[in-house]
Amino acid sequence: RRKVIIDCDPGIDDALAIMLACRSPELEILGLTIVSGNINGYQCAENALHILKVMDRLDIPVYLGATRPLLRDMVVAEETHGEDGLGGVKFERIEDVRYREGAVDFILNTLKMEDNVSVLAIGPLTNIALALQTDKSALSRMDELVLMGGAFKSHGNCSPVAEFNFWADPDAAEMVLNQLDRPITMVGLDVTREVVLTPNYIELLRQFNDPAADFIVDITRFYLDFHWEQERTLGCVINDPLAIAYFIDPSICSGKTYYVDVVTEGKAIGMSMVDVGGIYKKEPNCLVLTQVHARAFMEMFMTRLFPEHQS
Ligand code: BDR
Ligand code: CA
Repeated sequence: RRKVIIDCDPGIDDALAIMLACRSPELEILGLTIVSGNINGYQCAENALHILKVMDRLDIPVYLGATRPLLRDMVVAEETHGEDGLGGVKFERIEDVRYREGAVDFILNTLKMEDNVSVLAIGPLTNIALALQTDKSALSRMDELVLMGGAFKSHGNCSPVAEFNFWADPDAAEMVLNQLDRPITMVGLDVTREVVLTPNYIELLRQFNDPAADFIVDITRFYLDFHWEQERTLGCVINDPLAIAYFIDPSICSGKTYYVDVVTEGKAIGMSMVDVGGIYKKEPNCLVLTQVHARAFMEMFMTRLFPEHQS
């Protein structure tokens, strides 16, 4: 089994990512580290506990990290993820287990104590950048970083050119891409936009009569409406679980390595700049995924979460 820390900002699609990870025997989840993003960090941490409760995995520790971006004011995505970050479903507070503080220390201490740990980052990169600033040599002990963020040929979802995780903390994204000397994979909008949870899937989940399926139906209601109102699309893009799926089975996506930088000032702030032509004459720092086998992903997601409903 491969040891992972999942750095996240749950978040509706973060929830689906955590659920997939919980049902993947290839992964040993050492902890969830929480960053502010889709909603403030405190609420993200509460949401993480809920998700783990639904999956009966409250044994996985949750650590709250950065409650604001490195240098800028916080931006959240309430209009996409709801006032509580999980589609506005009113969940009861989990009292039996609580989250802890100190996500950055948890990441660094884990990397110092354990070998072969990878980080799957599906929120803004603030915690990872803080870990890099605090102890680069400890962070460099990580196996690899797979991150959901950025957009290469695809357009942005926060500005015409910027994807949310890079846009919410561009300084952190810029620092991680330029300073972390470990393999980085960018699972950006180019591939995640292809992964859509359609109303047919939602209908199927409704019929399963299973708590995890009901949870997905509940939290995606708001997200589906958002997609319909914004783009007149049926179904919702579920970005984050693709990063988990790719880590488990890299044959699901393919791409190419490039030098990637992030714009930290001006109108294009948060844009991922992929140096296709090698203009900067810099070593590639990132594998940029551009192709995805969306059906293979959906099959993986459904069969792992609901094995008893597969024919
Ligand atoms: C990313 O931004 C967040 O809203 C999602 O959780 C995902 O991590 C997509 O741009
Ligand atoms: Ca996220």
